[in-house]
Amino acid sequence: MEEGRKIVYSAVQPSGNLTIGNYAGAIRNWVSMQREYDCFFAVADMHAITVRQEPSLLRRRTLELVALYLACGLDPEGCALYVQSAVPQHAELCWVLNTVAYVGEMSRMTQFKDKSQKHAENINMGLMDYPVLMAADILLYQTDLVPVGADQKQHVEIARDLAVRFNNRFGETFRVPEPLILRSGAKICSLQEPTKKMSKSDENPNASVFLTDERDAILRKFKRAVTDSENEIRFAEEKPGVSNLLSIYSYFRGITVPEAEREFAGKGYGDFKLAVGETVADALAPVQAERARLLADRAYLDRVLKAGAEKAYSAARRTLSKVHRKVGFYRGD
Ligand code: TYM
Repeated sequence: MEEGRKIVYSAVQPSGNLTIGNYAGAIRNWVSMQREYDCFFAVADMHAITVRQEPSLLRRRTLELVALYLACGLDPEGCALYVQSAVPQHAELCWVLNTVAYVGEMSRMTQFKDKSQKHAENINMGLMDYPVLMAADILLYQTDLVPVGADQKQHVEIARDLAVRFNNRFGETFRVPEPLILRSGAKICSLQEPTKKMSKSDENPNASVFLTDERDAILRKFKRAVTDSENEIRFAEEKPGVSNLLSIYSYFRGITVPEAEREFAGKGYGDFKLAVGETVADALAPVQAERARLLADRAYLDRVLKAGAEKAYSAARRTLSKVHRKVGFYRGD
């Protein structure tokens, strides 16, 4: 970690198979930031248990996510890769922040409302506290920038509010973070309901393209993607299906949406969907191969996590002792 460099923090929950939305909205952007910033990237297992998880599956997915981080190009020397629950300061800071967060504001969070509807049988305290834990993650490292997809903007804003509120009450303690939401890839939508975001937990198997999907499955899902009754490939609000496919295509080809529109001018939806599927499958193939190779080397993954947790721990400890001092916890001499 270099003195004076800006700090970046982000995380993904190991709560299901990752989609191309998680890749485009988050992980892929992290890779391009790691040289310039001091980065902390976590596997948010404590967030994941706010909805019911099968314990053995959670453990497996945690390791798979680490392998995926590395396969996408994160460099364990250049950033701290670790599992959230291995650094106890996250839970400790969450507790203190709970005392400056209000029940009213937490109950109004969009994700809390959505998840409460979806998991009506399990509206646990953790689900409501999710944004406070996320604020603790971010503030613990004196983070400057939080690269996330558009759906997480509200949570980063709450982290900012809590930082400002705490600083006002107890004196300057936390740096106030900014969300970093890149336009391209920030909201990849479902292939079946293209006005909704693509999600790990969608029940419709054709709605989401997973990073582990095989080529055939990827092509099939794009072939079945919902479009419209026109036959014109252009980006427009009234054409959410085609627009989503254009965003995905341009993102994975590294070109702009108008460039993609020009490429498909006069072509039919069938050819277009096939081209999108092939582009995504080609882009994912090397990541999938590298992920599989890394998963076979458990000792290496464990070493990466141990080193990452140590780096995170020492940074987290600094902030937490400051917080404990500010709120008046007695520690002796
Ligand atoms: P999670 O696991 O739900 O999402 C991980 C990241 O993927 C982005 N994302 C998308 N981006 C574009 N299109 C989509 N369809 C799409 N779906 C998901 C999300 O915006 C996110 O960036 N609560 C966080 C995890 C977390 C965290 C943090 C993030 C825990 N602590 C601290 C930042 C900082 C989340 O939503 O994970």
